[in-house]
Amino acid sequence: MKLSLDICILSCICHFALGAQAKSFVEAISAYPELSNFTSLLNSNSGLALIFYSISPTAPQTVLVPDNNAFESFQKSTGQTFASQPYDYIQNVINYQLLNGNLKSEDFGHTAGITVPTGLIGPTYNNRTAGSSLISSGASTGNHNGQVVFIAPNTTSTSFSSRQLGSKGAYVQSGLGHQVNLTAIDGVWDGGVFQIVDGFLTLPLICTQTIRAWGLKALDSSLNRTGLSSVLDHVNNVTCLGPNDKAFLQAGSPDTKANVSDLTSALAFHTIPQPLYSNFLQDGQTFASLTNDTIRVTIRDGAYYFNDAKAIKLNVLTNNGLMHVLDRVMSPLDSTGASSSTKPSSPTATVTSAGTPSSSSTSPTTTQSSSAARALVLESSGWRIFEILGFVYSYIFLLF
Ligand SMILES: *[C@@H]1O[C@H](CO)[C@@H](O)[C@H](O)[C@H]1NC(C)=O
Ligand SMILES: *[C@@H]1O[C@H](CO)[C@@H](O)[C@H](O)[C@H]1NC(C)=O
Ligand SMILES: *[C@@H]1O[C@H](CO)[C@@H](O)[C@H](O)[C@H]1NC(C)=O
Ligand SMILES: *[C@@H]1O[C@H](CO)[C@@H](O)[C@H](O)[C@H]1NC(C)=O
Ligand SMILES: *[C@@H]1O[C@H](CO)[C@@H](O)[C@H](O)[C@H]1NC(C)=O
Ligand SMILES: *[C@@H]1O[C@H](CO)[C@@H](O)[C@H](O)[C@H]1NC(C)=O
Ligand SMILES: *[C@@H]1O[C@H](CO)[C@@H](O)[C@H](O)[C@H]1NC(C)=O
Ligand SMILES: *[C@@H]1O[C@H](CO)[C@@H](O)[C@H](O)[C@H]1NC(C)=O
Repeated sequence: MKLSLDICILSCICHFALGAQAKSFVEAISAYPELSNFTSLLNSNSGLALIFYSISPTAPQTVLVPDNNAFESFQKSTGQTFASQPYDYIQNVINYQLLNGNLKSEDFGHTAGITVPTGLIGPTYNNRTAGSSLISSGASTGNHNGQVVFIAPNTTSTSFSSRQLGSKGAYVQSGLGHQVNLTAIDGVWDGGVFQIVDGFLTLPLICTQTIRAWGLKALDSSLNRTGLSSVLDHVNNVTCLGPNDKAFLQAGSPDTKANVSDLTSALAFHTIPQPLYSNFLQDGQTFASLTNDTIRVTIRDGAYYFNDAKAIKLNVLTNNGLMHVLDRVMSPLDSTGASSSTKPSSPTATVTSAGTPSSSSTSPTTTQSSSAARALVLESSGWRIFEILGFVYSYIFLLF
């Protein structure tokens, strides 16, 4: 029998290598008929199975095992089988589906979601490093610097399998903001646990590719006009607050009408030099933008606002951080005028709880004292921006 021969070969390599984890993994998932495609992929490719050998029970991993639907939809959308993809690609995707730690059903129920480091490393797909929030939030074992996934409960899920399992479904969000459904089965193997997903994760790309995939044309052309595309693509640790096309239009089309220096300043105002995954954000928290102006987070009824802009899509992961897509171009905090009517009222919460993830390190104590003097109104377009600070250019290029 081919299967038993392969398992024999695997176990020989295992004994030769670090232990019986790989055999345990293949055996464990073999019990699930809906995982047969992944089982045969590993059985026919001992190189891939090697990935599982190196996982030590002292640094357990959660495997997001793609089910047969994942293989089918991959083939539908690309016209090619997953197994026929370049080896590097397959390896990266599998590494991305290896999550740090033992993640079980109860971990997927946090309404704010969780950000989890994975085995995907190397600058092409992970040009960022973990901040203290991420390190302190349970990624204490394994490679906490690996690229992350964002997992949140799918509150609208009514699918039979989820109800049958007595747990809510969840989604896993990866590169380009793509989501796959997670079915928590809390399967156990020697190297940790495994869960089922119905799609392959998408490897995070650089900012501009992500922005283009999202069809954010005004933002894209603004980055092109200012020459900031390459800056944004090659900086580590970034949160890009990306207004959509409607937002640019509403703001008087600064992408085409503002001059390059104003536009540069506005883009820097929408960039925060650290990755801010939404689950670490707290109502009332403030951050300094690249222009060193204050951006305040407001959380209301589950919606996230950055100053007066609402995030319409959170945690679109890029290789160097992430993007939150906004419904408007942000106004400076203390600007007055038309925008104030849609501005969320001042949050009252303060960041004090010792139990919350390292708020001190993620929240530079910015103030808003001097912004008013620096806020300008472009009369012609009605678009509010900060005046060009002499140091902005040099500051940006020093930083990057
Ligand atoms: C996946 O499994 C199905 C059976 O569920 C089978 O028909 C199909 O050939 C398999 N595909 C691959 C790529 O192994
Ligand atoms: C990663 O970041 C460095 C800057 O630290 C940059 O030079 C490099 O081009 C980036 N690589 C990728 C693949 O984005
Ligand atoms: C990325 O940000 C974290 C804090 O969020 C910091 O510890 C780390 O040094 C930064 N890495 C780079 C390459 O700037
Ligand atoms: C959540 O579940 C609903 C209903 O089953 C489904 O339509 C939707 O696609 C799911 N969302 C995600 C992110 O998987
Ligand atoms: C998630 O599940 C829902 C149904 O439960 C389905 O409509 C949707 O297409 C699934 N999403 C993916 C990415 O497979
Ligand atoms: C920005 O520049 C890139 C590369 O030069 C180009 O492919 C892209 O279409 C440009 N974007 C817009 C919106 O013009
Ligand atoms: C850009 O426009 C602003 C007005 O919004 C003006 O103050 C500034 O001088 C202009 N800069 C250049 C380089 O033309
Ligand atoms: C940023 O602004 C704060 C006060 O708002 C100030 O203390 C700090 O020195 C500024 N940093 C830079 C780099 O200008």
